[in-house]
Amino acid sequence: MSSTKVIIAGCGIAGPVLGVFLKSKGYHPIIYERNKRDLDAVGLSLMLHPNGLRVLSLLPDFDLSAIASRAIDEVSFYSWIPEARVPLASSAKFVARLEQYGFQSRGVERPELHRLLIEHALKSGVDIKWDHRLVGLTESDEEVRVDLVTGAGGRTSDTASFVVGCDGLHSGTRSALFGAQRADYTGCTQTGGITLIKDLKLGSKAPAMATIYGNGTSIIMYPISDTKVSWAMVQREAEERETWRGMDKEKQEQLKKGPLSEWGFDAEGVVANAQRMVKYGLYDRKELPTWHKGRVVLLGDAAHPTSPHLGQGANQAFEDVYHLVRLLVKHNPTASPLPTEKLSEIYEEYQLLRKTRTTALVQGARAMGELRATSGTEACLARNEVVRNMYGDEAKLLEQSAFLFDAPFKGAPEI
Ligand SMILES: Cc1cc2nc3c(=O)[nH]c(=O)nc-3n(C[C@H](O)[C@H](O)[C@H](O)COP(=O)(O)OP(=O)(O)OC[C@H]3O[C@@H](n4cnc5c(N)ncnc54)[C@H](O)[C@@H]3O)c2cc1C
Ligand SMILES: *[C@@H]1O[C@H](CO)[C@@H](O)[C@H](O)[C@H]1NC(C)=O
Repeated sequence: MSSTKVIIAGCGIAGPVLGVFLKSKGYHPIIYERNKRDLDAVGLSLMLHPNGLRVLSLLPDFDLSAIASRAIDEVSFYSWIPEARVPLASSAKFVARLEQYGFQSRGVERPELHRLLIEHALKSGVDIKWDHRLVGLTESDEEVRVDLVTGAGGRTSDTASFVVGCDGLHSGTRSALFGAQRADYTGCTQTGGITLIKDLKLGSKAPAMATIYGNGTSIIMYPISDTKVSWAMVQREAEERETWRGMDKEKQEQLKKGPLSEWGFDAEGVVANAQRMVKYGLYDRKELPTWHKGRVVLLGDAAHPTSPHLGQGANQAFEDVYHLVRLLVKHNPTASPLPTEKLSEIYEEYQLLRKTRTTALVQGARAMGELRATSGTEACLARNEVVRNMYGDEAKLLEQSAFLFDAPFKGAPEI
C-alpha cells in the first residue's frame, strides 16, 4: 500500500523537522519551499531553549551535538542611562537549574541550524521542492489540491491527503485559508550582528546572556559558539520590512561610530566589532479564531508569529510539531488516509492544546519589547525596578522557566 501523502508548505525551521517525524511515522511528506536552495546566509541567530531542544532530541537519527551552539552560563541585566549605569540583576544559579529539564538554553546561528535540519530531512528521505510557492488550496472529499507558482512564473499543482502550513510570518497557506491580512508591525526594529568574543572587554564573561537597557533602546547579546556572540538592538521607529538581509556598509559604519560605541558592559564592543549586521522590522499577528479548516492546518509562525523578545519563535514551532505528530500517531497509528471529520478532530485537539499558550507568549513578547524600548528618564528608572524584580528573584525565574520549558510535556508521552 502506498503511504498517505502530506504536503508541507515551507522549509524554514519547522518544515524539515515535521517532515522527518512524519516520514518516520509512515507518512509520505513533500515539502514545497518558495525560496531556491542555498540562498546567501540570511538571518542571524536563535536561542534554542530546553523545550525546543527536547523536541529536537526526539528526532530520529539526529545528532543534537552536531548543531554548533553555545550553552548560556549566566543571565545578567544592566542599565545604561546617564542616571544609572549599573548592573541590575544576574543569575548563574537559575541557568544551572535549567538542567532539571534535561537541556541548557543555547544560542545558535540560524543559517547553520537551517542547513543542518534540511540536510537531515533529505537524508531521511523527505522530498523537498525548492522554488515553489503555495498560492491556493482546493478541497475535495478525500484530498486537497495545492496550487503552486515557481520562480520562473510557471504554475503547477499537487494533491495530498492533508496539508500543514509551516510557511512562516507571511504564510500563503494562512492567506489561502482565511484571506490575506498584513502582519502587525510592533513599532520596533531590531539591528543585530555577530561579533568575535576575543574583541570584547568582558570576553571571559561572554557565555552570559546579557541585556543592557538604555533610553529608548536595549541590546541583548548571547554566545552562539566558543568564539562568537550574537547581539540585537531594539529601537522604536518607522516600519521596516523583515528581509533578514545584510545592512549596507555605510549604515554599518554609522552605527559602529554612533552613540552605542560609548555604552559599557560590552555593548560598545559588540557593536564596534561586528562582522555582519542585519536590520529587520519586528512583526507579530493577533490570535486567529482557528488554525485549521478542512484538511489543512497551520503550525509555527504561520499560526502564531511572534516578536523575538522571549526567544520562543522556533521553540514554539517545535512544540507544535511535537504535539501535532503525537496526536496523529495517537489517533491514526497506521498512518492511513483519514476522512475530513477525523482530521478536523485531531486538528481541534492540537489547537486546544496549543493556542492559549502561544497567544500568551506572543503577548508576553510584545510586552517585553515595550520594556526594552522604554524611553524617558523616569520611565527608564521605573523600568529598571521592574527588571530588578523580575530577574532578581530566583523563585520567580524558576516558576517562569517551568512554564516555558516543562509544562508543554506534562503527561505527554515520547513520540
Ligand atoms: C530568512 C529568515 C531568517 C530568519 N532569521 C531569524 C533570526 O535571525 N532570528 C530569529 O529569532 N528569527 C529569525 N527568523 C524567524 C524564525 O526562523 C521563526 O520565527 C521560527 O523559526 C519559526 O519557524 P517557522 O518554520 O514557523 O517559520 P520560518 O522559519 O520563518 O519558515 C517559513 C518558511 O516558509 C517559506 N514560505 C513562505 N511563504 C511560502 C509559500 N507561500 N509557499 C512555500 N513556502 C513559503 C519561507 O521562505 C520560509 O523558508 C527568520 C525567518 C526567515 C524566513
Ligand atoms: C531619552 O529619550 C527621550 C525620548 O527619545 C529624549 O527626549 C530624552 O532626551 C532622552 N534622555 C536622555 C538623557 O538622553
